[in-house]
Amino acid sequence: MSKPVILTGVRANNDIHIGNYFGAILPIVDMAKRRSADFDINLFIPDLHSFTTPIDHSKLYDSIRSNARIYTAAGLPLDNQAIHLYRQSRIPAHSELAWILDCFTGFGEMSRMTQFKDKSRKFIDSKMSEDELTNEQKAWDTIHTNVSVGLFNYPVLMAADILLYSASYVPVGDDQTQHLEFTRDIAERMNRKFGDLFVVPKPVAQQHQFFGNDQGLRIKDLVNPTKKMSKSDDSGKGVIFLGDEPQAAHKKIMSATTDSLGKVQYDRENQPGISNLLEILTLVRQDAGKDVSLEQTISQYTGMERYGDFKRIVADEVAEFLANFQARLAAVDEQAIEDKLESSERDMNLVANETLHRVQTAVGLRR
Ligand code: TRP
Repeated sequence: MSKPVILTGVRANNDIHIGNYFGAILPIVDMAKRRSADFDINLFIPDLHSFTTPIDHSKLYDSIRSNARIYTAAGLPLDNQAIHLYRQSRIPAHSELAWILDCFTGFGEMSRMTQFKDKSRKFIDSKMSEDELTNEQKAWDTIHTNVSVGLFNYPVLMAADILLYSASYVPVGDDQTQHLEFTRDIAERMNRKFGDLFVVPKPVAQQHQFFGNDQGLRIKDLVNPTKKMSKSDDSGKGVIFLGDEPQAAHKKIMSATTDSLGKVQYDRENQPGISNLLEILTLVRQDAGKDVSLEQTISQYTGMERYGDFKRIVADEVAEFLANFQARLAAVDEQAIEDKLESSERDMNLVANETLHRVQTAVGLRR
């Protein structure tokens, strides 16, 4: 009897910041380690999804590698046989199933996907403001040639990613819940038409229940601590990237926005900057292997009056965290990653092809 499957796409590019690291990457790695006794854990790199919007293709190969390297440096155990790490593009069944599902997906259904609407709108807006595109005809040409069909049916490929492996649990952020709902819809639709073809992933509410405690803290921007840390921050001053020089990160923490209340307290509402620093401090301490909770950090520093002293403590430990992480990254065994990818891809091709053949048979392509 095979174990139930937890599956997630691990997207990462070269500009990973501590918000991504503590909010997404580490929770996935921890979840994988903790659940691997009872579940098969499929972690895959959705590399076919990475150019649904235009990218610099000369960097794609390296960013796929760097993706796997970062997860490894974050502690993903490559020798765990229940954890599968693979590239979407190396399992041809993803593309093949996506095509078949495309033919059972409504044009209107895809048009309602909010991520498509948001991303294509952003693209159109950015082009509309360029001088040479003030002419409406040119603008439309740009839209038609650059908002790709790949972006449009991105969710269909995502459904194939999930259904090929009969995954029950898929941890997804808010921006992906609509895609998960679509995956359930298309699976149920196919099951009604062709008999039991697919395992339908659990509904969103059950996903949240299942992954509830695996959600990381949401680190905020250092300059504007009411919004979450994001790489699209223009100045970069509010964001600490994993590749930052430890000394540069130290400076960023020292100049983080605080408040004029003059007392360290955990109060997200009135002291968002200080609260954010308390969270960051807890997370870097946990990463260093210390068994501390946010509550313990809070009680240790509550009432401290000199923000400069408090910031220096945080800045020192963040700098130390970065130096450690960068050393771990440099020490990652490239060959071990390559071996892991290849062996997972061999195994996953077998699993995926079994599902694909079942579907091909159902639709009349095979007997
Ligand atoms: N769309 C996901 C994201 O942007 C990545 C992804 C692709 C994914 N295929 C998936 C996540 C399948 C979960 C399951 O983060």
